Amino acid sequence: MAKHKKTDLGLSTILNPVPVVMVSCAGKNPDRAEESPNIVTIAWAGTINSEPPMVSISVRKSRHSHKLISETGEFVINLVNKSLCKPCDYCGVKSGKDEDKFASCGLTAVKAKNLDYAYAIVESPVNISCKVKQVVELGSHDMFIAEIVGITADEYLLDENGKLCLDKAKLVAYNHGEYFVLGDKLGFFGYSVASKEVFENRMGYKKERDKYKRIREQEPKKGKKY
Ligand SMILES: Cc1cc2nc3c(=O)[nH]c(=O)nc-3n(C[C@H](O)[C@H](O)[C@H](O)COP(=O)(O)O)c2cc1C
Repeated sequence: MAKHKKTDLGLSTILNPVPVVMVSCAGKNPDRAEESPNIVTIAWAGTINSEPPMVSISVRKSRHSHKLISETGEFVINLVNKSLCKPCDYCGVKSGKDEDKFASCGLTAVKAKNLDYAYAIVESPVNISCKVKQVVELGSHDMFIAEIVGITADEYLLDENGKLCLDKAKLVAYNHGEYFVLGDKLGFFGYSVASKEVFENRMGYKKERDKYKRIREQEPKKGKKY
């Protein structure tokens, strides 16, 4: 089949898509300009353990944020939604050495849950407080391995039963140098083996069907001409 005829691409960081996140941090003395709350855009981020929940971010030594995170052992992963996409890109091309990126982007810094020094971005839908456990020097980047010690989320993301509906957040993914907002829901964990009833419920098809059934069955208002 011609479609699957392979070509050799050599070696590169080709794993895609990846999350793109805004990592916020600060020094121990945030009143000093060089230690004030900062934001760095990170694509080399990932979940690495379930119990305890752990993540890693890989940061070049040259980044201003590398210095701040190394000093305090703290950072916050702020998830990026559609409206944060442009500030996210900006924080990935400007350095906190030269400017206050919170101010430049019109974003709000708030002390992060369960951390002493790092700040979270209020405008982000989900803020994940992290404490560094280990630093691994890999080559170009140092990988900060960290434990999640607190999570806050915008209340609008919870349904009537208090369940987190992250699909409402319009999160952004990074695919080979470009940003995309997450689109069509194709399924859920285990949908390949789920019953038709479970599948239709979880995909929201039943809710939609019931909605249109209600509309169809509505009595026409008296005196109204159709
Ligand atoms: C989409 C995107 C992803 C990035 N991912 C990383 C990354 O994973 N690690 C890293 O060290 N720098 C990454 N960068 C570059 C830094 O965000 C950028 O150098 C930033 O200006 C550093 O800010 P700072 O000096 O205030 O820490 C990325 C930039 C962009 C735009």
